[in-house]
Amino acid sequence: MCGIVGYVGPGTPSTRPLDAALDGLARLEYRGYDSAGVAVVTPGGLSSAKKAGKLANLRQVLAEHPLPEGTASIGHTRWATHGAPTDVNAHPHLSRDGRLAVIHNGIIENFSTLRSELADAGVPFTSETDTEVVAHLLGRAYAGDLTDAMLEVTRRLEGAYTLLAVHADEPGVVVGARRNSPLVVGLGDGENFLGSDVSAFISSTREAMEIGQDEVVTITADEVRVRDAGGSEIQAPRFRVDWDADAAVKDGFDTFMEKEIHEQPKAVADTLLGRHDEDGNLVLDELRVDESVLRTVDKIIVVACGTAAYAGHVTKYAVEHWCRIPVEVELAHEFRYRDPVVDVRTLVVAISQSGETMDTLMAIRHAREQGAKVLAIVNTHGSTIARESDAVLYTHAGPEVAVASTKAFLSQITACYLLGLYLSQLRGYKYPDEVAGYLDELGRLPEKIQQVLDAEGHVKDVARAMKDTDAVLFLGRHVGYPVALEGALKLKELAYIHAEGFAAGELKHGPIALIEPGRDVFVIVPTPRRPLLHNKVVSNIQEIRARGARTLVIAEEGDDSIDQWAEVIFRVPRTPTLMMPLVTVVPLQIFACALAAAKGLDVDQPRNLAKSVTVE
Ligand code: F6R
Repeated sequence: MCGIVGYVGPGTPSTRPLDAALDGLARLEYRGYDSAGVAVVTPGGLSSAKKAGKLANLRQVLAEHPLPEGTASIGHTRWATHGAPTDVNAHPHLSRDGRLAVIHNGIIENFSTLRSELADAGVPFTSETDTEVVAHLLGRAYAGDLTDAMLEVTRRLEGAYTLLAVHADEPGVVVGARRNSPLVVGLGDGENFLGSDVSAFISSTREAMEIGQDEVVTITADEVRVRDAGGSEIQAPRFRVDWDADAAVKDGFDTFMEKEIHEQPKAVADTLLGRHDEDGNLVLDELRVDESVLRTVDKIIVVACGTAAYAGHVTKYAVEHWCRIPVEVELAHEFRYRDPVVDVRTLVVAISQSGETMDTLMAIRHAREQGAKVLAIVNTHGSTIARESDAVLYTHAGPEVAVASTKAFLSQITACYLLGLYLSQLRGYKYPDEVAGYLDELGRLPEKIQQVLDAEGHVKDVARAMKDTDAVLFLGRHVGYPVALEGALKLKELAYIHAEGFAAGELKHGPIALIEPGRDVFVIVPTPRRPLLHNKVVSNIQEIRARGARTLVIAEEGDDSIDQWAEVIFRVPRTPTLMMPLVTVVPLQIFACALAAAKGLDVDQPRNLAKSVTVE
């Protein structure tokens, strides 16, 4: 959700704390862009600025009213929860005497009780936010040591938060705290950083430190000290960030989303890298779950949200086929509210790009309480879901900055397939030849995805010509069904067009009523080498064509059976059925991106959305 950055450094012209905060915010803006703000501490004083809207608006304010040079800084980009996205509700919020500033990500659930208590004590409020409550509590608790004040105040807070605070009396210090919301430390040379995730500081350092649940961290230019909730000093684990700093800039593309779509061959290749030996045996030592547990698992439940959940849907077809283990796919926010049947023989697989999605985090906590083992498929090192799971299989997609997920989706499917093949290897292959073939096929996918990308011009032309369409339907069967759902999601979130995905077989059970002359319908056609599946989808195309629909068909090269039924054909290379989502989804991503751009919309930061949804 909100993006948070903190910095303490030498304060030389080349490393001004304000610039460090703004640079971090630029990299974190994908987490929320309702408003942005900064506070800078100078010896003896504190200055701040904030503005509704994107970071550019704040930069404009700072150009007109520059802040003084400082010794420490904090910065925030907001995705509004409590209070409208206005200047007043933007962070930072200040204590009553104006000497302390605080920024916050999350929701303080007991904020109205705390607010009434402060109001009764005569504290005036200027905003509608829960964060201002924390600013006043910290201001009142402060007795010369910001860390002590933070420890005292966080004991009173309920809910989820990452908090960063600075005080004018401690000009070289930033104090942070977290519960159910992310916070990592970037360890520099004579400078230190705090960030919601590592993108906040990867341009300066790749050495990082995890901050655990309910811990409080104090950074100065030379020192990082971490305390548990009781105030005792602890050693926090360190890690090295293997993301490429350049990955967070656009690299010549107009948008991050286009760049990330084009990074998909690499994302898939990197996720496969080093995970099997020369003989085709899967080597997933990193999983660190007892093999006996994986051998005795009798059910898998995938929990995830949005695009990550569609990756789970795709996985179900493959893993059930390869391993003969039942796989349920559950939206994480539904999971814990329906009393799911989970026990020690259940493997819960949590899929999350950010590793911070609160719904998914709550689902894994619930699963672990029921005795299940949780295996996370996560892209972000040091994230909360990765830390709280029994095992982690990292996707190696690199930072995904565009709010709409693309390369993470492909790398999630790839990682899930590796897991499926690994389980199949451990438990004894049901179809040994087929499994070995699939591993080879996964290795060929980066090249095939590249072929689809090379033909993007045709997809873009079609998208531009359709910029005034008001509704698009997507149909798919088998693994094509989750691809249809993903194609519809991409179009909704980027182009604000009504788009719906259906299982093609479901058409005649209701959705066919939506078909009318000229209605645009994408159909994802399975390979003709699975004739039963293929013929059914071709019949669906005929049914909708007969009712005047305009059919846009994604089909394998050489499949000319669909030519007479398609207004537009997007070709993908010959690929085995289970692998087809990794190629068929790509034209749908390009289509949504190009259509939104043709409408003049912000592709990277669509309205109302945030990159990681850290509230339930
Ligand atoms: C859609 C999209 C979202 C995310 C979902 C889960 O383009 O990006 O639907 O997939 O919010 O996010 P993660 O994977 O970070 O848990």
